[in-house]
Amino acid sequence: MADKDQKHHEAEDTGHEWDGIRELKNDPPRWWTIMFWLTPVWIAGYLLLYPSIPFPSGSSKGLLGWTSHGEYDKGRQEIEEIRAPFERKIAAMSAKEILNDPEMSNYAVNSIKQTFGDNCAACHGSGGQGGKNFPILADDDWLYGGTIEKIQETITEGRGGAMPAFQGRFTPEEMGDLMQFLKDAQQGKVFEPGKKVFLGQTKANAECSTCHGEDAKGNQDMGSANLTDGICRFDCTPEGLEYTVLHGVNDDGDVKTRKATMPVWGKKLTETQIKKLAVKVYLFGGGQKS
Ligand code: HEC
Ligand code: HEC
Repeated sequence: MADKDQKHHEAEDTGHEWDGIRELKNDPPRWWTIMFWLTPVWIAGYLLLYPSIPFPSGSSKGLLGWTSHGEYDKGRQEIEEIRAPFERKIAAMSAKEILNDPEMSNYAVNSIKQTFGDNCAACHGSGGQGGKNFPILADDDWLYGGTIEKIQETITEGRGGAMPAFQGRFTPEEMGDLMQFLKDAQQGKVFEPGKKVFLGQTKANAECSTCHGEDAKGNQDMGSANLTDGICRFDCTPEGLEYTVLHGVNDDGDVKTRKATMPVWGKKLTETQIKKLAVKVYLFGGGQKS
């Protein structure tokens, strides 16, 4: 303590004092001084070696010739060189052949992850888990079919199921019967033929079965949902079902109609990308043998 005090007394006084604390003219520590002088040397070196000084015509180039774009391009080129043999092979294979080759299908799924994330996940979820009004891709319930060929066709050509709005077409009694039928169908009930329900004889019932089939199991050629599997494409609460029947799906004549459009990807993505996507969707788990 005594030594320290002594030293402070020896250091020159700046004459500044705040609340009894005097400011002295001690030198900063040596390591600090060294760092201080190294800093401009470092900056000068950096300015010289790397692109740094902005000019109206573009920044200074730097002696190393390094650019972040260059580094990115080099990295990409390296990846593309590794991918090239796979890409050539995939271009010549059908989606089904890719699927049947574990190495290629593994490559396809991994190399298309980003494309799926950028183009599909917003509607179908990053794991194909679907979302409100967007079908699940990771189950084995398919509107349009789950063979690799059908999945590829869906992605290439897009889809848009159409069901007319039935508002004003039924008596309240018929509507009640219909709702009861839909509820029963979802729960797997088997119906007596001739009963005044979906499979019965009324005008309305005939129309339903035109698209959904006599057995109400749907028709994949037109994407009419299976009404008996308990899986809901839209909302299968009693209100949700009634809404679908009253307003239809993609019925332009009804402003409240349910919208369901799967975009066309055939023009936006390459055939190879679509094949890979079809394999990825198939391998979410619900793909069906063709
Ligand atoms: C704008 C939302 C949207 C985007 C983006 C989208 N989809 Fe779809 N997709 C839909 C809708 C809606 C349907 C159902 C169409 C219908 O009901 O008729 C569908 C249906 C499908 C089906 C058929 C499912 C079945 O049960 O048969 C597949 C497969 C599919 N999409 C894959 C994809 C892939 C792969 C991508 C990315 C390239 C993609 N979708 C991007 C909205 C979308
Ligand atoms: C012109 C063909 C057509 C007719 C007629 C039709 N539907 Fe549909 N229906 C469809 C299609 C296609 C879908 C699936 C739409 C989609 O997913 O894009 C659908 C979907 C539904 C759904 C939704 C299922 C779910 O999983 O959410 C219900 C419920 C339904 N229809 C009931 C009926 C009833 C009841 C009738 C008769 C009153 C009927 N439909 C008549 C074509 C039709």
